[in-house]
Amino acid sequence: MTAMPPTSASEGNVPRHLAIIMDGNGRWAERRRRPRIIGHRAGARTVNLVIDFCIEKGIEVLTLFAFSSENWGRPQDEVSALMKLFANALEREVDELNRRNVRIRFIGERVRFPDTILERMNAAEALTAGNTRLTLAIAASYGGRQDIVQATQSLVHDVLAGTLRPEDIDETVLDARMALADLPPPDLFIRTGGEHRISNFLLWQLAYTELWFTEKLWPELDTEALQHALDDYAHRERRYGLTSAQILEKSA
Ligand code: IPE
Ligand code: IPE
Ligand code: MG
Repeated sequence: MTAMPPTSASEGNVPRHLAIIMDGNGRWAERRRRPRIIGHRAGARTVNLVIDFCIEKGIEVLTLFAFSSENWGRPQDEVSALMKLFANALEREVDELNRRNVRIRFIGERVRFPDTILERMNAAEALTAGNTRLTLAIAASYGGRQDIVQATQSLVHDVLAGTLRPEDIDETVLDARMALADLPPPDLFIRTGGEHRISNFLLWQLAYTELWFTEKLWPELDTEALQHALDDYAHRERRYGLTSAQILEKSA
């Protein structure tokens, strides 16, 4: 262990928004010579652990990458099994999350889901819309590039309708059309499963997010590893292109 000042995330500097790529379910199962879906089921339990952790730490927003635009291309049996798991999770978990004052959101192309799932997603959002303890954003059928495409379409629509001038489009205007626009941007990104890549997650929103990777597979992620990520985050200096001296001056 390196010598660090005795500050920890529990003493402040906790991320407001944590965004996670939940990766490694398939490998977790394959290592046990079990079908991949067993790994996805085990992974669903980790979701509850992370939600509890965020509530306990006072994190305001948790965004979870559950299913990417590209994951539709997996073998049909895996996609169907994932859909079943998703439908069951919606059935089983939403009331409890509502009771715990969690606001549920979905980002991504939800029209690609079967109607039964789509209805449950809409119902979960409606039921929990007024909750304030934690915002849980689930990225399902989500792709960062697709997010930029839909924002662009929305802007072009307004330009053609004459309600927006092209010269008025700036970063703030585009940002307002992106997923999660009304929430603070992710402060900390975690990816489990050992891969060091973004895999088309929040491309726009992650511009200045602190990145943290772990070899642990998603089903084996524990509170200790999460705390490690938070402690690491608490010691980072976010400079946003400025110098360290400027940042220190600002915070003085
Ligand atoms: C992440 O785990 C869950 C989804 C993408 C739905 P994976 O299924 O990608 O697990 P690995 O990466 O193959 O181990
Ligand atoms: C990213 O994981 C998507 C989710 C966790 C939902 P993938 O397993 O699909 O990413 P790649 O294929 O390793 O880049
Ligand atoms: Mg994977």
